[in-house]
Amino acid sequence: MSFSVPCVIPLYSLPKATRSKWTKIPTHAIVCCVFFALLNFAVRAQAQVTAPPASGIADPGLDKRVESILQQMTIEEKVGQLVQYSAGQPTGPGTGRTDYADMIARGQIGSLFNVIDPHEINKYQKIAMEKARLHIPIVFGLDVIHGFKTEFPIPLGLASTWDPSLVERASRVAAMEASADGIRWTFSPMVDIARDARWGRMAEGAGEDPFLGSAMAAAYVRGYQGSRLDAPDSIAACAKHYVGYGAAEGGRDYNSTEISEHTLRQYYLPPFHAAVEAGTASLMSAFNSLNGVPSTANPFTLKQILRNEWGFRGLVVSDWNAVGELIPHGIAADGATAARKAFLAGVDMDMVSSLYHDHLQQIVNSGQATPAELDDAVRHVLRVKLALGLFEHPFVDEAGVTKAFYHPENIALAQSAAERSFVLLRNENGPGGKPVLPLATGAENIAVIGPLGEDSSYPNGVPQGSGPRVSLMAALSQRVGKGHVFRFKGSGVLDGSDDDLVAAVEGAQKADIAILALGETPEMSGEAASRAYLGLPGRQQQLLEAIVKTGKPVVLILFSGRPLTVPWAFEHVPAVIAAWLPGIAGGPALARTLFGEANPSGKLVVSWPRTVGQEPLYYNHLNTGRPAGNTDLTRPPNDITERYLSRYIDEENTPQFPFGYGGSYTSFRYGGTRISTQHLSAAALNGGLAPAGGGAATMIAEADVTNTGSRAGEEVVQLYIQLDGTSVAEPVRALKGFKTVSIAPGETKKVAFELKPEAFAIWNARNEFSVEAAKLKVWISPDSARGTPAEAEILP
Ligand code: NOJ
Repeated sequence: MSFSVPCVIPLYSLPKATRSKWTKIPTHAIVCCVFFALLNFAVRAQAQVTAPPASGIADPGLDKRVESILQQMTIEEKVGQLVQYSAGQPTGPGTGRTDYADMIARGQIGSLFNVIDPHEINKYQKIAMEKARLHIPIVFGLDVIHGFKTEFPIPLGLASTWDPSLVERASRVAAMEASADGIRWTFSPMVDIARDARWGRMAEGAGEDPFLGSAMAAAYVRGYQGSRLDAPDSIAACAKHYVGYGAAEGGRDYNSTEISEHTLRQYYLPPFHAAVEAGTASLMSAFNSLNGVPSTANPFTLKQILRNEWGFRGLVVSDWNAVGELIPHGIAADGATAARKAFLAGVDMDMVSSLYHDHLQQIVNSGQATPAELDDAVRHVLRVKLALGLFEHPFVDEAGVTKAFYHPENIALAQSAAERSFVLLRNENGPGGKPVLPLATGAENIAVIGPLGEDSSYPNGVPQGSGPRVSLMAALSQRVGKGHVFRFKGSGVLDGSDDDLVAAVEGAQKADIAILALGETPEMSGEAASRAYLGLPGRQQQLLEAIVKTGKPVVLILFSGRPLTVPWAFEHVPAVIAAWLPGIAGGPALARTLFGEANPSGKLVVSWPRTVGQEPLYYNHLNTGRPAGNTDLTRPPNDITERYLSRYIDEENTPQFPFGYGGSYTSFRYGGTRISTQHLSAAALNGGLAPAGGGAATMIAEADVTNTGSRAGEEVVQLYIQLDGTSVAEPVRALKGFKTVSIAPGETKKVAFELKPEAFAIWNARNEFSVEAAKLKVWISPDSARGTPAEAEILP
């Protein structure tokens, strides 16, 4: 039996504040930890968790070179390293300059982004390397979010695979393609916890859970940065947006956030910490204000936590004009104050506002910032450039660029990622008394209806790709022959005509099955794409109802960057797949899934709301003093025992589909959760939290999972815990492990998890990471809402 756990927060990832507790631990606890320390090391090596690359920003070998460059720099050149502009599309504040070449020659620019033409990249780099006095290379950046050319599913889709190794491989492909183009820095991964589907940027992250989010954050960093950051095909990662950006009030992008230190540490910070532990070269400071202090001028998060507690040695870049936005935020009267506040708070590089360029020299010369502080910021930039090997290899091989793009095996990987990202939300019996999906081979005449069925630019989610995309319509035509697939637009995404609708209804009537491709365009999620309504936009709901009314079997494929509230569909449409924005090979991936060559195994990484009024909605909420419990939430409260509870009077509390939920063409039965011990010791577990030791006490939890269907399938088995009786209220459930298993029909597999001390640790009332005495429940379950827990106790 293997006890390996797919993702583990390594012990050395604990903040220094916690590490200091090590000194208070009795010697016998230290001695008994040695064995577990070795065990922990072995597991790390085997599971490839968050070990930073051999050559990365923390490499001590860089120190000497950094210092030697620094010594030669003038104050103007130092400030120049902290200045970044966007020299391509899109434009905005700070762009539109025409003098980048001159500025580079004078050493006034450290980084450019949005330059995608490799010839342009070389042109600028030549100036930096030949004309500028110190020959310090420019680092070229870009938002390489879910692939550079070969587009993978959006990050929300990738996370729905629950497979960090897949995410690592996908980001490796992105790194290889982007680096071949001359881009050595991506502004990715976005590791913001997202609990509110109104927020359009939910699409760019890994959802609502810090444990899964941490695993994904580390996987992206490993993929982008490879085994050596200075390898020519590695790119520097940038974990963003630090921090709390996803908690925007009302789900409205850029809005303020109020997050207690406890919640920040327990939910919002862990994925950033995981990225730092994995060796991320950079972080991006966020737009939002955090408890009244903008994240881009927040010394508590940027200095105290990031530098002092986590020991981060890489570079912090602001988000786009976030330094300039300190003025509208209301904490800076002018550009000079904005620059000073951001700089002193710990933002090293100013993205596009130009305020560091305009004011930083004066800020240092006037003593408002010290030369040492300036040097420190420059060190962070130089470390990244040196770690990337840019000084040795500043130029891109223009002739070789396109050779790196669209390799068939990478497109195949994108297709398998898409297949594994699909979440089967519903698959009820159709007219034949059998589940509608998978479709019978060679099935009949198919009507592909809806605005997203054919326009292959839609279901992708763009960025730089213009490659061999295949739409759903094209893939189905290839699969069953052109004569059997009929296309009806039915409506636009946002608009539509009666004629189109009537034609689609007639088309469905003549077909044997209708496949509806509905949802959002890529522009409707991502940055500045918050929605106040989460239903199908435009006339799509009307189209859906009209097609269902024909009585034909209907499969609804939802393309979106967030869950959509379509309760009618979940009652009336027999088969529904959440396909997210599936990338370059989304069409073939869907065709294979519809016909059962691929069996869906994706699971939700965000709670799917019934209605927008439930947002923010997340599974790991607190119980409250008045939990609704077993009250019948399907009807309005009738008496006093039902009324004064934490509930709505007009909607259920529960989501439409819970976090972790996802169906399959087969079915799985879970046996009860078994645990290796009913009694743990908080003291021993706290001993195990120390970096040099590990695993002073652990628990093994296991369950049997049986494939009760008639075909093989993959199942993402999840482990949750609940702690009761702690000094700070803990969530009703918290994910602490997950594992994907392939199970043959009729087969039973034992799935085991090893729970390490940190699984039981909480951020207590003093904001220390520690284990407390508590009652413990452990579930091994198919999602966050099912299963019967095993019970145990953590004694003092
Ligand atoms: C603003 C976005 O918030 C950020 O995620 C992105 O990296 C920058 N623009 C650069 O494009």
